[in-house]
Amino acid sequence: MVLLKGENGQEGGLFALASRRAEALPGDYIQDGLLHCGACHSKKETWVELLGAKRKVACLCRCQSEKVQRQLEEMEARQRIEALERKQAAAVQDPAYRKWTFDKDDGGNPRVMEALRRYCARWPEMKGQNMGLYLYGGVGTGKTFAAACVANELTRQGVPVLMTSLVRMANALGWGAEREQFLRSLNGYDLLVLDDLGAQRGSDAMKEAVYQIIDSRYASGKPIVVTTNLTWEQFQNPREERDRRVYDRIREMTVAIQMGGPSRRHRLHEEKQNAAYGMFWQK
Ligand SMILES: Nc1ncnc2c1ncn2[C@@H]1O[C@H](COP(=O)(O)OP(=O)(O)O)[C@@H](O)[C@H]1O
Ligand SMILES: [Mg+2]
Ligand SMILES: [Zn+2]
Repeated sequence: MVLLKGENGQEGGLFALASRRAEALPGDYIQDGLLHCGACHSKKETWVELLGAKRKVACLCRCQSEKVQRQLEEMEARQRIEALERKQAAAVQDPAYRKWTFDKDDGGNPRVMEALRRYCARWPEMKGQNMGLYLYGGVGTGKTFAAACVANELTRQGVPVLMTSLVRMANALGWGAEREQFLRSLNGYDLLVLDDLGAQRGSDAMKEAVYQIIDSRYASGKPIVVTTNLTWEQFQNPREERDRRVYDRIREMTVAIQMGGPSRRHRLHEEKQNAAYGMFWQK
């Protein structure tokens, strides 16, 4: 007889049931020669014909089979969540950013966040128009947070998204045929979120890599979301020709959104400082 291994490693499944005697628990009773469950009063044993002979085999009473059903449903729900987490892990490379979602917005920048919510809600239209976003502003104004909210929301909607820093992506490019293949593979993403434009060190190889990423995206006609600490002045009037080529393409692919307000990093620092003050020095 074939024995199937069950969920938790015990024997389970129909084949195993057929070879097993029903287990009597306290409260169970015999009626019409068959074991019955003391809790739900349905049969725990039944008669079957096996090769011409009648045999008594174990079966699931109502409460047991309901329990099995519940476990199956819980397992399916767990698998759905895990699948979403895997998708999100593939979409947003930095694990810290996967938690940055619209529902965590502290409301400090309502105008921008509302615009970004609408951007996500009207995604098919935005994609159709190759409408990208250019989020600029000082350090700590929430640019990366805002970009991550968009990346996570669209991923939740099932849109293929990749969010990574430009430096990280430039470093991953490789050379020769590998580089071309990598750049082509980026076209598989409906949205590319590139964090921290302008943060890259000025090596020629890095600048060339950034140029190729932006240029290949430009050619694909698919949108990008870019975040940057560059000032508007630096973006409009770059000193180097190579930067100009990159910025011109980005300008054509995006609408600019300024992130204002004081740095949240200072605020977070102050909160930490105050908390520490309370812990260390106050009675
Ligand atoms: N809208 C927001 N709601 C809640 N926290 C935010 C928001 N914007 C930024 N933060 C927090 O402030 C800090 C700095 O934000 P970040 O996006 O990294 O700034 P930037 O990329 O502009 O330098 C982060 O810890 C982030 O979690
Ligand atoms: Mg940032
Ligand atoms: Zn029962």
